[in-house]
Amino acid sequence: MTVDHAANGQEALSRISAATDLDTLEGLRVSLLGKQGSISALLKTLGAMSPDERKVEGPKIHALRESVTEALTGRKAALENAALEEQLAAQTIDLTLPAPESPRGSIHPISQVMDELAEIFADMGFAVATGPEIEDDWHNFTALNMPESHPARAMHDTFYFPDRDAENREMLLRTHTSPVQIRAMIDVVQESPGGAPLRVIAPGRVYRSDSDATHTPMFHQIEGLVIDKGIHLGHLKWTLETFLKAFFEREDIVLRLRPSYFPFTEPSVEVDVGYTIVNGKRVVGGSEGWMEVLGSGMVNRKVIAAGGLDPDEWQGFAFGTGVDRLAMLKYGMDDLRAFFDGDVRWLSHYGFSALDVPTLSGGVGTAA
Ligand code: DAH
Repeated sequence: MTVDHAANGQEALSRISAATDLDTLEGLRVSLLGKQGSISALLKTLGAMSPDERKVEGPKIHALRESVTEALTGRKAALENAALEEQLAAQTIDLTLPAPESPRGSIHPISQVMDELAEIFADMGFAVATGPEIEDDWHNFTALNMPESHPARAMHDTFYFPDRDAENREMLLRTHTSPVQIRAMIDVVQESPGGAPLRVIAPGRVYRSDSDATHTPMFHQIEGLVIDKGIHLGHLKWTLETFLKAFFEREDIVLRLRPSYFPFTEPSVEVDVGYTIVNGKRVVGGSEGWMEVLGSGMVNRKVIAAGGLDPDEWQGFAFGTGVDRLAMLKYGMDDLRAFFDGDVRWLSHYGFSALDVPTLSGGVGTAA
């Protein structure tokens, strides 16, 4: 029997070095060295040979097995190494690239404006008062001189709850921040039996069943209330002027007070602020035109009495306005609904940096 070991060996070795993946290589190992493998079969033939033949064939077959084993081991290491290299190349991080900016939140313009308002009024000695958003109709209407039959109630598009409270009052989502006037007066009377003086603002959410481009069912108002002795319209006008100059950061703010009607004030005024047209847009300041910004007036005697104070002793003024509208005017936004869409692109354009805390000396509103 003459077997051309050299030729078999050559072929095996070239197949090994041509293997491009570990699976192929393992297949070759099994077919050469496995139990049924061709080299294993050759080894088995040694037993049937004569001693002389074995002397000649033995070393050749063993040499063949050794070189094949060596080639398999070498090729396996090479393939594993290449796989590792490939993985490392794919996972490379370029440390010279700038690190991606981590997402940063920003302050919603409504929150920013409420903070600005609190700052401005704090400088004038106003505290912040709060009240519940789920109100009863006594605080929201009756105590504000809007008894049950009052036509102004119908104008408020109120969201009512189906059940009444323990005192049999109708429950509703407050339609304005004015009920906080009543709560603040009752609180101050409770704290000091003589009652006032009182200087508060009440920013917060209010609700009306109304929705279009300029109305959303939830919006924000800020209420102001001053109760003291000898308070008159002059105090009201000065306060509003000082507030609007600080808020819009302009000295040329001009106010116009127009007689109006609110059940909770007497007399009542609507306050317009003058504007100028700059590049086709209204800019607050000057007096080319007028737009309404506030409702206000001297607090009605009945409201002072509902707050537990003697209207012969105490007078006051009150005002109320929309925070959303103030924000739109100051920062030039034109669609109210965008305030409540929760679109981060809008927020990253109009939002404020968390570190941009408003102060009167440092300026109140630098957009982020
Ligand atoms: N509460 C009124 C509203 O929501 C706004 C208002 C007007 C508040 C006059 C006042 C005020 O305090 O004096 O329409």
